[in-house]
Amino acid sequence: MRIVAQPSHVPALPTTLRAPDLPEPCDDARRHSDRLNETIRREIDSADGWIGFARFMELALYAPGLGYYVAGTAKLGGDGDFVTAPEISPLFGRTLAGQIAELLERTGGDVLELGAGSGTMAADALDELQNVNRLPRRYLILETSPQFMERQQRTLQERHPALKDRIDWISALPENFEGVVIANEVLDALPVHLVAWRHDGLYERGVCWKNGLVWSERPLRPGTLRSAAEAIGAEADYVSEISLVAPALVRSLSAALRNGALLLIDYGFGRREYYHPQRSQGTLMCHYRHRAHDDPFFLPGLQDLTAHVDFTAVAEAGIDAGLKLLGYTTQAQFLINSGITQLLEQQPADATTSRFALTAGVQKLLSPAEMGELFKVIALGRSIDGPLIGFASGDKSRLL
Ligand SMILES: C[S@@+](CC[C@H](N)C(=O)[O-])C[C@H]1O[C@@H](n2cnc3c(N)ncnc32)[C@H](O)[C@@H]1O
Repeated sequence: MRIVAQPSHVPALPTTLRAPDLPEPCDDARRHSDRLNETIRREIDSADGWIGFARFMELALYAPGLGYYVAGTAKLGGDGDFVTAPEISPLFGRTLAGQIAELLERTGGDVLELGAGSGTMAADALDELQNVNRLPRRYLILETSPQFMERQQRTLQERHPALKDRIDWISALPENFEGVVIANEVLDALPVHLVAWRHDGLYERGVCWKNGLVWSERPLRPGTLRSAAEAIGAEADYVSEISLVAPALVRSLSAALRNGALLLIDYGFGRREYYHPQRSQGTLMCHYRHRAHDDPFFLPGLQDLTAHVDFTAVAEAGIDAGLKLLGYTTQAQFLINSGITQLLEQQPADATTSRFALTAGVQKLLSPAEMGELFKVIALGRSIDGPLIGFASGDKSRLL
């Protein structure tokens, strides 16, 4: 599962921690990682020996043909590195569809899903939207990974052949969008900067090459990142992430949204909790074959890198771009408000999905010890009035 109850720790300078007890990759996979390492090394050389962590993370996850999300292994599911909510229970996507249906009732238009993974959430949501007779005009998917796109096409072709004409993949955000944008666990996969608040000032953590990838800190230059770090004002010694990319994505989505809402689901907190004095090593986390560890330099290209989401930054980006904060709550509260328990009761238990398995899946989504509390749902909208079912009880005050 792509969650951990406690955030992990960025290794201390200057050593590179080698994650112990991780399974060995096969020769092909190791060669693949070596090629990506070589690309990163060349980029470090041509940047006078240092790149910021955000650039390293971008290359590790998205370098053309080599990055974790654009090449390589299974990633999602039992054979992969992590499992997400739609893979845990079909009731996740179906419950989310209840909120989508309510929004579509007011906005009409399309659904746009970002980073749709295996396509399971899309297929489950479409099942339910069909059940309640509220199919969107089109179900669009914007996916950066060619491998995931292929998988989504297979899933949706198998499960919804009759909706073929409504489902489409797009390669860039539409200029004018009307409807509902959804994204589950996409914001946490976007590159983050690492900042160190030290006794003698602010530093950006980055990466050098000394017989391999090693950490290196540089004084933080004036600019957007430094202003954000100064505003956070953590007490030394403190290391954490600042995401400039996630708010930028929200700004782009806001600019595209004429009428409708963004529903974003991910693990994270509001800013006060995110930069809590006790979370002094940040939330950066690596996932490799269902093991979570804290060494981002371990086999680049073969493991996922992720950081929790600062939902205050997400809300502020939307509000600054003219959207209204419609709701913010925990995943558990959102799913309960949206009727997951009623859906569970209505579910016929068949041979392949026993009631026990369905209940266990829902339990994982809702349990405070698993995904229920750490994961949050935020809704931002334009021209949407009135309360939304998913946030009927929920608390926005922890956010701004
Ligand atoms: C952790 S996976 C989550 C997949 C899926 N939403 C789920 O819940 O199973 C992250 C997904 O986001 C995609 N992605 C990353 N950056 C993206 C971006 N800027 N726009 C759209 N998709 C993106 C990845 O390719 C991948 O499909």
